[in-house]
Amino acid sequence: MANKSRESETYLVAKEHLPRHVGIIMDGNGRWAKKRGLPRTAGHARGAKVFKEIALYCADRGVKAVTFYAFSTENWKRPPDEVSTLMSLLRDCLEDGLEHYRRKNVRAHIIGDAEQLPASLREMIDEVEKSYTQNTGMILNVALNYGGRAEIVRAVQNIAAEAAAGRLSPESVTEETVEQNLYTAGQPPLDLVIRPSGEERLSNFMLWQSAYSEFWFSDVLWPDFTKDDLERAFRDFENRNRRFGGI
Ligand code: FPP
Repeated sequence: MANKSRESETYLVAKEHLPRHVGIIMDGNGRWAKKRGLPRTAGHARGAKVFKEIALYCADRGVKAVTFYAFSTENWKRPPDEVSTLMSLLRDCLEDGLEHYRRKNVRAHIIGDAEQLPASLREMIDEVEKSYTQNTGMILNVALNYGGRAEIVRAVQNIAAEAAAGRLSPESVTEETVEQNLYTAGQPPLDLVIRPSGEERLSNFMLWQSAYSEFWFSDVLWPDFTKDDLERAFRDFENRNRRFGGI
């Protein structure tokens, strides 16, 4: 159900009732900039600032994992200058985050196909990924050149290769086998998907992982999204009646 109200109660949801894994579709950067007569890239720059704030706040709040949708496999269709600004912004943003991840014990992980990304961004990804193995705190997934369908295809290819090599029989393939071959293998299930900016769709984001997710939508544009908005989503999540197909 959409929650469009920005006023309401202000209590903080207890840590044990928080979603274990939150997915955030950062949307509305372009509209935010347009409203101010600024280039779209100014919206992305502001959006990157909000990403940093919200990511670190999630770590402070005790969320176990959070995934941000930063660049989809479909975003290559944007004008080349917007794509290249986004690439350098993403690189700077990851570099800037390194020290914070160390201090907050955050395990940063890039999900998506890094092959097509510029070399300087790939180098930074290698740097950032070290935190995934070295640290023990919150998992921070950043989806870059990511698509939910492509992720499932990749998992199927890995499983098929195992079967072709005789290491796995087709009958033994289970949901767990697929899960173990996703970028998010071993991570908590996606409990809550947040999408600001008034759009109410998944846009190829974590298709497998969102099977039993709750959704929280808001009209706020991503560059205006605040910790209070996140807390609103948490309060709403706490009051959902999750049945997982039961009664
Ligand atoms: C969607 O808004 C936003 C994006 C495609 C880019 C999101 C990326 C950032 C905020 C940079 C964050 C950096 C890191 C490292 C995560 P839109 O351009 O589709 O907005 P519109 O719908 O208003 O046009």
